[in-house]
Amino acid sequence: MAVLEIFKYPAPVLKRPAKPVDQISPELLQLIDDMIETMYAAPGVGLAAPQVGRSCRVIVFDANRDESERSPMALINPEIIFAEGEFCMEEGCLSAPELNVEIKRKGQVKVKALTREGKEVIIEAKEFPAVLLQHEIDHLDGKLIIDYLSGLKRSLYKRKLKRKEEKEKN
Ligand code: NI
Repeated sequence: MAVLEIFKYPAPVLKRPAKPVDQISPELLQLIDDMIETMYAAPGVGLAAPQVGRSCRVIVFDANRDESERSPMALINPEIIFAEGEFCMEEGCLSAPELNVEIKRKGQVKVKALTREGKEVIIEAKEFPAVLLQHEIDHLDGKLIIDYLSGLKRSLYKRKLKRKEEKEKN
């Protein structure tokens, strides 16, 4: 297992729709293990393959907020097949440092996906875990929390990043 580099906005791979997985290969299983390790090391509660520079439809997450009890889950080709209600919370993203965005999402979702064993599952989630799934699946469609900001807030965030970058150069 290895901790992978997390790509940050505006890396192009984050904006690209990711390709469906057509085969669960040993390489893919390795990627999943590495993504789980990278997620915990960050630390974070979810990670999508494009965030580690791999444009394929894989997400990992752990909606268990109790850190003493890890229960990582990996989903391949996840797809939202049902969504209803509304839930709003402040979201952060490992690919968008120093940014929190309040996003209105669906309060309840059903997600169809394959497990790492290749078994088809339907996951039902509500509130925080539902948000987490929607956030990670957004990544597979090239969508970031930055895209939920208004134009003005987005340009302020870009300016902030640029300032930070210049400071780090000096
Ligand atoms: Ni994210």
